[in-house]
Amino acid sequence: MEDLTPRKQDLDPIEIASRDEIEALQFHRMKRSLKHAFENSPFYRKSFIAHDAHPEDLKSLADIAKFPFTTKQDLRDSYPFGMFAVPQSKLVRIHGSSGTTGKPTVVGYTAADIEVWSKLVARSIRAAGGRPGDILHNAYGYGLFTGGLGAHYGGEQLGCTVVPVSGGMTERQVTLITDFKPRIIMVTPSYMLSILDEFRRQGVDPRQSSLQVGIFGAEPWTNAMREEIEQAFDMHAVDIYGLSEVMGPGVAQECVETKDGLHIWEDHFYPEVIDPVTGEVLPDGQIGELVFTTLTKEGLPMVRYRTRDLTRLLPGTARTMRRMEKITGRSDDMIILRGVNVFPTQIEEQILKCAGLVPHFQIELTRSGRMDSMTVHAEASGTHASDDARAASARELAHHIKSVIGITARIEVHEPGGVVRSEGKAKRVVDNRPKG
Ligand code: DLL
Repeated sequence: MEDLTPRKQDLDPIEIASRDEIEALQFHRMKRSLKHAFENSPFYRKSFIAHDAHPEDLKSLADIAKFPFTTKQDLRDSYPFGMFAVPQSKLVRIHGSSGTTGKPTVVGYTAADIEVWSKLVARSIRAAGGRPGDILHNAYGYGLFTGGLGAHYGGEQLGCTVVPVSGGMTERQVTLITDFKPRIIMVTPSYMLSILDEFRRQGVDPRQSSLQVGIFGAEPWTNAMREEIEQAFDMHAVDIYGLSEVMGPGVAQECVETKDGLHIWEDHFYPEVIDPVTGEVLPDGQIGELVFTTLTKEGLPMVRYRTRDLTRLLPGTARTMRRMEKITGRSDDMIILRGVNVFPTQIEEQILKCAGLVPHFQIELTRSGRMDSMTVHAEASGTHASDDARAASARELAHHIKSVIGITARIEVHEPGGVVRSEGKAKRVVDNRPKG
C-alpha cells in the first residue's frame, strides 16, 4: 500500500501546535463556551446553579470537573428543542440520534456549527489520506443520522468529488465503485463487509478496485477487522469517531501514517475519561467512560457529555493532539455473563482468528431459570461450508472464546449468507432474555 502521509504544510497549524498553545486555546474557548451555555441555555443555567458552578469558577482546564455532567437523559427530557442555546430560527439543521425505540435525541446546528463540522470532517479525511480532487464514495446513511451529511459536507469542504450513495442497495454500491473509481470510501465497517461479499458475488476482485482509503466508524471495530479489510481490498482502513450529541463524525480521527488510535480534535472538544461509577476523572492512560465538553458549538453547547463509550486517553503521535484508543465498546453493550464482562469486539477478535469463518456475526442472549447464556451466531466461509467443517469451526471458536475471554458460549455456525447483513450500524447483540 502506498504511503499516504499528508504533507505538513497541508495540515491546520493547530494540529501540530505545541501542547501549551493547544491548552491555551482550549482554556480560552472553554470559558467562552461555558458562559454561552450559562447565559443562553435555560437547561445549563439551571443545572450550573443547582451544582453551585459558575463559568467564572473556571481558572484552569481541570476546573471543568466542578461542572455537572450532561447525559442522554437530559436530552430526552428536553425533547425536542429544550436544550438549544440559540433561538430555533438560528438553526440551519436538525439531526437526531436513532435510539432503538421511540423518539430520537434531537441536536441542532447554526450555520457556524455546520462550518466547523465540515472543516473537522475535511481535516479527518485528509488525516486518513484523502486529498482535494479525490472521488469519495459516501455510503453512510443520509437523513437524521449524522453520518451521511457529515461526511458529505466534509468531503466537499476538502475539495473532493462526493458521490452521495447512502446505505443500502449493495449491488449498486459495487457497480458505482467499479464505474466511478473512487479513491476514498466512507461507510460503517460492518457494511463494508457486506460490500465485500457483493464484490465476490459479482466476481469482481476487490483488490483490483480503485479504493485506496476506507474511513470507517459509527460502531466499534477491531484491529483484527482492520487487517481483514485491508487485506481484502488492498487499501488503508482507518477509524473515524463521533456522536451526534457532540457534533457527528469527525470528533476524532485516526491518522493513516500511524493507525494507532484516534486523534481527538482538541481545539474544538475537550475530552475527559471518568470512572463510570463514581464520576471521578481518571488520569490519561486509564480506561473509563469518555466525556466531552464542546469548545465552539453555538446551537447546542455540551458540557461534560457522558458518551458511555469506553476508552483511554493517550499522548499525541502523528499530531500533538491527544489520542483515544480504539473504542472497546459502549457501557450499554457490555454483556455480563456469569460475572465476566464481555464486549462484542472481543468476540469479533476471536472470530477473525478462525480461518473457516467470515466476519459477520451476531450475539444472542437467553436465560433459562437464573442462568444467562450466550450464543454466537457465526457464518462459514464458502470453502468451509460442509457440516464437518462448520462443526470444526464451532469447536475452534468455542475454544478461543473460552481460553481468551474465559466464558463458555454456544456457537452456531451458519451456512454462507446465514447471518443477517448490516447496511449501516450492525446490531451485534440480540437480547432474548425475559425483561424485568
Ligand atoms: O455514529 C456519528 C458517526 C457517523 C461517527 C459516521 C463516525 C462515522 P451517533 O449515531 O450519534 O453518531 O452514534 C454515536 O456511535 O457514542 C459510539 O458508541 C459509536 N461510534 C461512533 N464512531 C465510533 C467508532 C455517529 N469509530 C455512537 N468506534 C458513539 C466505535 C463508534 N464506536
